[in-house]
Amino acid sequence: MGNFFPEEIIDEIKDRNSVVDVISQYIQVKSSGRDTYKARCPFHNEKTPSFVINPQRQMYKCFGCGEAGDVIRFIMKIENLSFIDAIKLLAQRANIQLKELNTSEEYKKTMEQKMLFFEIHKKAAQFYYNNLTRGRNAALEYLLKRGLSQKVIKSFGIGYSNDSWKDLLNYLSKEGYQLKDLEKCGLIIQNAKQTDYYDRFRNRVMFPIFDITGNVIGFGGRVLDDSLPKYLNSSETPIFNKSSTIYGLNFARRHITDGKIILVEGYMDVIALHQEGFKNVIAALGTALTKQHAETLKKYCSEVIICFDGDDAGVKATIRSIEILKEANLNCKILLLPSKKDPDDFIKDKGKFAFQEQIDGAVSPIDYKIIQAKNKHNLELPEGKINFVKELAEILKQIKSPVEREVYVQKIEKEIGVSKQVIHLEIYGNKGTTPFDKNLKYSSNNKRDNKYIEAVPPAEQNGHVMAEKQLIKTMLVEPKMLELIAKGINPEDFSKGNHQLIVEYILRNQITNSELILKDLPHLNHDIEDILNIDIDHLDFSKTLEKYIVNIKRFKLMYQAKLLQNKQKELIESKKLNKEEVETELLKIGMEIMKINTEIQKLQL
Ligand code: UTP
Ligand code: MN
Repeated sequence: MGNFFPEEIIDEIKDRNSVVDVISQYIQVKSSGRDTYKARCPFHNEKTPSFVINPQRQMYKCFGCGEAGDVIRFIMKIENLSFIDAIKLLAQRANIQLKELNTSEEYKKTMEQKMLFFEIHKKAAQFYYNNLTRGRNAALEYLLKRGLSQKVIKSFGIGYSNDSWKDLLNYLSKEGYQLKDLEKCGLIIQNAKQTDYYDRFRNRVMFPIFDITGNVIGFGGRVLDDSLPKYLNSSETPIFNKSSTIYGLNFARRHITDGKIILVEGYMDVIALHQEGFKNVIAALGTALTKQHAETLKKYCSEVIICFDGDDAGVKATIRSIEILKEANLNCKILLLPSKKDPDDFIKDKGKFAFQEQIDGAVSPIDYKIIQAKNKHNLELPEGKINFVKELAEILKQIKSPVEREVYVQKIEKEIGVSKQVIHLEIYGNKGTTPFDKNLKYSSNNKRDNKYIEAVPPAEQNGHVMAEKQLIKTMLVEPKMLELIAKGINPEDFSKGNHQLIVEYILRNQITNSELILKDLPHLNHDIEDILNIDIDHLDFSKTLEKYIVNIKRFKLMYQAKLLQNKQKELIESKKLNKEEVETELLKIGMEIMKINTEIQKLQL
């Protein structure tokens, strides 16, 4: 598991042992303005102070001898302690209990191995970096051409593995490291005959991968041309676990403002954004985000802005990451880049202000899913709309708050011109579970609405359904009446969800051929058959139409009145409001009921 101490412990130890305080206990430290401190270096002999402490970064560095590091490193050096013992000392100093510290022999051994592997990786990174920066070479040209500055190359320690089989191997052996250890680090590979070793990374731009405390734990190596694989990454080692490593987090964690972090796909995206000032940026290394990633991120941020490539793979990875983040209780927004662009391309093309605009316009997961669903279907076609609404319903079902869900329903209603009744129908079920459907009586999970429906006189319950069927049949067999009918009634006046769907479809598409309708609404086959089988009065359409319409509308109004009466009952029983509030509310509802009653009377005139 990653570090030998839980990261939080190391973080806390560093937080509570300020580098300036600790160092001043050993040597005389002087403020040298602009928030830095100077001292004479304790690690080499010098007269003028070249040992600089930077409290902001919690680091020290001697410009005379090159010794540099954090507070733990300082204690290790000055007290000549192992890493564990330095941690112990600093923990004691800050009064931190180290109960969880395991100091068995075996544990010490793995720890020592890890320390060695860190050292090897650091040396390798320095070697690659020197290769890249020593003079002009193809790799440096490549990076400069891609717009990276010398400064960012240095900050990220980018390097170059020469086009050679044994460059690193020779260097690290000369430095005294065993081939077996280099192999365990995945930096060299044994040949098939097991007679020799060679470098894993050759002729690649090298991106060191850091752990949270800044140790190099692996590499990603990119080819300089179009050959494959584009990136070669370190294998899993005792210090490198791909599914828990987050590239760039060691830098990003110091730049998290408002708890927000930007998640991108690749090394180059992280570096390009960092260079343009978006330093709260990280990447999961070519894999989708894992649970472990999310748990780690939670320690440093509260919101993740996903900014993956605009291609299909990017969309898939985004959807998966949204779920992972949701499970981890991390907020999430999604930034929508134009397709075929990654953040690196985008910022190079459009600049940092345009990217900031994109961040400001990042959308919620629900919005993102709706946008993706819209892209998938052709909303110009009826079946496209139907399929979209189906998918939309699945998305909206995930929203717990009915109010929030309703906001989306209304937005979509306006945008694509599908009535909200139809959307409701998809969300709440095809068998007709809109609050306005008689079938609700038979669905058990919404008792309250059943009660309302049952309160309507039984005669009315049947009469209006028949009227609905008759009216629809009229539409189907007498298309010339359509216009008249459309003037008198809306799809949402129908009580049965499936009737709403059919009427909505007919009026919108002006299609009355039942076979065509069935093609687009195959699941309504039953209802349409039923409708076609009933009798209608052919003699005087204008009269019978009116009868049907009045019947349907009256039921709707009665239903609404019944809902309001039930609301009044609930108010009277409710203990949340005081008497005065209850009375005002009752009065308001009473007025509405009166209005409805007037409308009912008007219908019957
Ligand atoms: P991309 O193919 O999007 O690469 O892979 P990129 O980061 O945009 O790189 P450039 O701009 O072409 O240089 C995204 C990430 O997936 C991983 C790497 O971590 C890469 O940064 N990856 C990709 C691999 O591990 N191996 C591969 O062969 C390709
Ligand atoms: Mn790229």
